[in-house]
Amino acid sequence: MRTYNDYLQTINTAIAQISYPAQPQQLYEPIAYTMALGGKRLRPVLALMSCEALGGNTDDVLLPAVGLELFHNFTLLHDDVMDRADVRRGKPTVHRRWNDNVAILSGDAMLTMATQYVARADTRHLPAVIDLFNRTAMEIYEGQQWDMDYELRSNVGVDEYIEMIRLKTSVLLGCACRLGAIMADAADADCQAMYDMGMNLGLAFQLQDDALDVWGDPATFGKEIGGDIMNNKKTFLLINAIQRVTGDDAMELRRWLNDPEAERDIKVPAVTALYERLGLRALSDRAIEAYNAAALKALAATSMSDEAKQSFASLIISLTTRKS
Ligand code: IPE
Ligand code: IPE
Ligand code: MG
Ligand code: MG
Ligand code: MG
Repeated sequence: MRTYNDYLQTINTAIAQISYPAQPQQLYEPIAYTMALGGKRLRPVLALMSCEALGGNTDDVLLPAVGLELFHNFTLLHDDVMDRADVRRGKPTVHRRWNDNVAILSGDAMLTMATQYVARADTRHLPAVIDLFNRTAMEIYEGQQWDMDYELRSNVGVDEYIEMIRLKTSVLLGCACRLGAIMADAADADCQAMYDMGMNLGLAFQLQDDALDVWGDPATFGKEIGGDIMNNKKTFLLINAIQRVTGDDAMELRRWLNDPEAERDIKVPAVTALYERLGLRALSDRAIEAYNAAALKALAATSMSDEAKQSFASLIISLTTRKS
């Protein structure tokens, strides 16, 4: 098996070959800007790795994998408008550098480009690939809407949160793994096990993203710390805080949740301190470990070689200490 960096290079070379029309500049420049900023490229790497691990040729999955990365980046353009986020990958978000309308329309164009790339799977696999991709996309929109709905609710349960992150984040990681398996002509049981692995990895990944939004280093995380706290996002941390907090802390948390004028410099450290008093970092780490264990269990059920399993296991473990 090749390393993460090997797959990353293959993906980055393919992404660098995407050509954008010069005009209208306000439509295409933000797309080129976003795609050039990189990021981890986790979804296409998972697709390539999965394909190779199950005996396929990564050339066959490369263009659909680029499609998944275009799709992911499209969701980020719209997500940053919805979350009022100013910084991504250490740079101004598209809606900040340009404006909301540009982020909406460039995002739309990226979605169509994504579909064009996904549709470049060979004709034999195309129906299964398009079906998987479209189903995944609809689930992501559902998850994003729950995420927005929950900003306004204070009684969101942990089970509702898990379902929300399954939809908004995990299904795309599951889709990437399944895509690789499909292109490798893997048996149905392997395709399903790969999907389950990606899904559980995705749940751990979003829990980690929520923790990094509180405790991450802005220099490496590339996003502004405390965005979730400012938006009253019903993360695993906030939901558990609401359920566990007592006494003066309960009054304080209620005050923060009901103060639309709260200042960032005061609210973010105060809510972070409250999470720390409640021991929520350790609770979140335990949940991450549990989903990683489920991902490893799904991995074990696949028919891939021990060496390939080891590569995935190392990736799963390395993501838990990620800084970006
Ligand atoms: C950000 O995804 C959105 C989430 C699902 C948390 P990534 O953390 O994969 O972002 P990039 O592509 O590496 O920047
Ligand atoms: C992102 O969730 C999920 C999608 C973009 C579909 P977040 O809102 O937590 O992602 P970041 O933190 O902005 O990257
Ligand atoms: Mg966001
Ligand atoms: Mg969001
Ligand atoms: Mg986040």
